[in-house]
Amino acid sequence: MKEKVLTYLEEIKSTTFDKMDDLEAFRVKYIGKKGIIPALFADFKSIAPKDRREMGVLLNDLKKATLAKVEEVKELLDNMDQYMESGIDLSLPVNEDLGSRHPLSLVRNQIIEIFSRIGFTVEEGPEIEDDWHNFTALNFPEEHPARDMQDTFFIEKSPDIALRTHTSSVQVRVMENNQPPVRSIFPGRVFRNEAISARAHCIFHQVEGLYIDKNVSFADLKQTLMYFAKEMFGENTGIRLRPSYFPFTEPSAEMDISCHICGGKGCNICKYTGWVEILGCGMVDPNVLKNAGIDSEKYTGFAFGMGIERITMLKYQIKDLRLFFENDIRFLKQFESAI
Ligand code: DAH
Repeated sequence: MKEKVLTYLEEIKSTTFDKMDDLEAFRVKYIGKKGIIPALFADFKSIAPKDRREMGVLLNDLKKATLAKVEEVKELLDNMDQYMESGIDLSLPVNEDLGSRHPLSLVRNQIIEIFSRIGFTVEEGPEIEDDWHNFTALNFPEEHPARDMQDTFFIEKSPDIALRTHTSSVQVRVMENNQPPVRSIFPGRVFRNEAISARAHCIFHQVEGLYIDKNVSFADLKQTLMYFAKEMFGENTGIRLRPSYFPFTEPSAEMDISCHICGGKGCNICKYTGWVEILGCGMVDPNVLKNAGIDSEKYTGFAFGMGIERITMLKYQIKDLRLFFENDIRFLKQFESAI
């Protein structure tokens, strides 16, 4: 009997169906009143007591497998009926053209991967942001011209609600919600009221980084960014930090990498300087820590922010930013083989 049950089990698993009628026939054959399974249960009495336990389990399995199969196939056939009604032809050949990841997604994923290897987690914040998180908490004083550095799309006035102009806003949210140590990156989409050209767009992507703990120093920032540059652009990449200004960091810097196209000799990508700028960074201003509820006597931190489009353009030598948004399949297909 055991043999028989096992054979039925196999048979049930491998049965295929074309239509509801077949499924009904299957149901009647196995679990109908005069079906195979009730008959097996009826034979149960004739089994030697020592084998009953094992056979009991087996028979129950058989019954469960049959019921599960009926349910599963019923759902599948129901769905198929819906498709038929909707006019979708399931018999059409499969399109074997595989899609590809967008180059911006590839680079974003690579940036995430590089930083996650040294312990950075990923956080996200809203694209529609209030004045506090996008500007005020980041030490942009009211009416200060620094706010004009970024042309903002406002959605509502007083209180100001806008599309975030940078992912630095997520810094504030993360600090408000977590006590140090904080070691995270924030990828996301940002918006600026800029005319669209080969070099600028009103929608683009950034990745922000934030590290807050006791004794975080500028040397930590430099090492972290050097590691990133080498992982992203190759072992021989050099970095250079130039003093700069951002309201939310003090001191602030912009980071260049040695031009990976000409190796620093000078070419039209680096405008014959041997260096290309890739990000802004600095030590988080104590005012920003305070604004976000972190003890600035106890903790220090660094932050950085980079444009994903910029990194992607450098990495793949793409000369026109608009290509990222046109979804021209001839452009996108070039990235097919990448991860
Ligand atoms: N938020 C700046 C921008 O959009 C980029 C930036 C600069 C971010 C310096 C930072 C930073 O975290 O420290 O231009």
